[in-house]
Amino acid sequence: MSDKKTILSCIQPTGDIHLGNYLGAIKNWVELQKDYRCFYGVVDYHAITMPYNPEKLRANTWNMAFQLLACGIKIENLFVQSLIPEHAELCWMLGCLSSYGEITRMTQFKDKTAQLKSSSKSSLISGGLFYYPVLQAADILIYHPDYVPVGKDQDQHLELTRNIAERFNHQFGKEYFKTPQTLMTKNAKVLSMADPTKKMSKSLGEKHYINIFGDEARVRKQVRSAVTDSGISDSEQMSPGIKNLFDIIAALGSMEDHQRLMSDYTTGSLKYSELKEVVADVLCSLVNEKRTALEGILADKKNIKYQIQQSSAVIRTQAQQTLKEVKSIMGLLHTKTK
Ligand code: AMP
Ligand code: TRP
Repeated sequence: MSDKKTILSCIQPTGDIHLGNYLGAIKNWVELQKDYRCFYGVVDYHAITMPYNPEKLRANTWNMAFQLLACGIKIENLFVQSLIPEHAELCWMLGCLSSYGEITRMTQFKDKTAQLKSSSKSSLISGGLFYYPVLQAADILIYHPDYVPVGKDQDQHLELTRNIAERFNHQFGKEYFKTPQTLMTKNAKVLSMADPTKKMSKSLGEKHYINIFGDEARVRKQVRSAVTDSGISDSEQMSPGIKNLFDIIAALGSMEDHQRLMSDYTTGSLKYSELKEVVADVLCSLVNEKRTALEGILADKKNIKYQIQQSSAVIRTQAQQTLKEVKSIMGLLHTKTK
């Protein structure tokens, strides 16, 4: 057994990974693999809490797994949630330790409920949507991680997870579950280039996000038309659009470029066209590298799918071990293995 600390994080299979997901989450996951024992999951059980299409879901789940690999996630660290049914089983048990009131307070549940209500789809507010954070707690606690890297929006779910872990330990008089710490990603929010008052997101529409597996010409076009001044003329403060471009260079480009452009900005001689040129160059090199990696994976799709099934099966043995222990602590029966 290694004495490395354990990391766990998961992502929903929502389609293509965009620059915001990459800089805000995935790039960090990749780097953490150097120093930690890591578990990274594609959580398709979470994706069925909102209205969806089965064929599309299956395609998106594989797609997300392939894209994570293309970004540098190691295959042995990757699992697909629905291949490990113990997550759902632990969810049931943890649900019995959660209170209705605390789950109702989750803002993501309130937001998604409001979203369905506003589009006259109240009948589609599922029990699963309500239970979503308990399943998330199960995803986490089942592998006993020390840290969970997530964005700020997941803070509340992590707090709930810790509360459930503590309640379990208290109720059964045993320090069984670790209370995992949130590892806030250091990369700032990536903003939409078309509207830098908003966070880059797929839901805003095509022109608002940069597909990191997309093509070079499109990326150049998007950067060229990036909004630089937001209309607020406050010469003292850098506009969000410019800051966003600088942040992208800081995350992906060279420090020299960043310093040179920043000093031009300070002296008032910065040409936005030059700033955009540098951003387009760093993004194109990222996009070309990732697209080539993805093409390699897709060319060997059948074999890679098999390997993902295998890695999920290996990770599953740890989930099974936790389930066995939890059942025993909770007074439930479990199959004896000789
Ligand atoms: P989502 O697909 O929006 O649930 O996001 C998946 C992961 O990417 C989460 O960890 C988010 O915090 C992160 N993320 C999504 N959009 C952005 C963004 N524009 N900037 C930084 N991080 C983001
Ligand atoms: N709710 C998370 C999100 O929307 C996804 C998620 C599910 C997750 N299970 C998790 C994140 C466990 C971290 C750990 O981004």
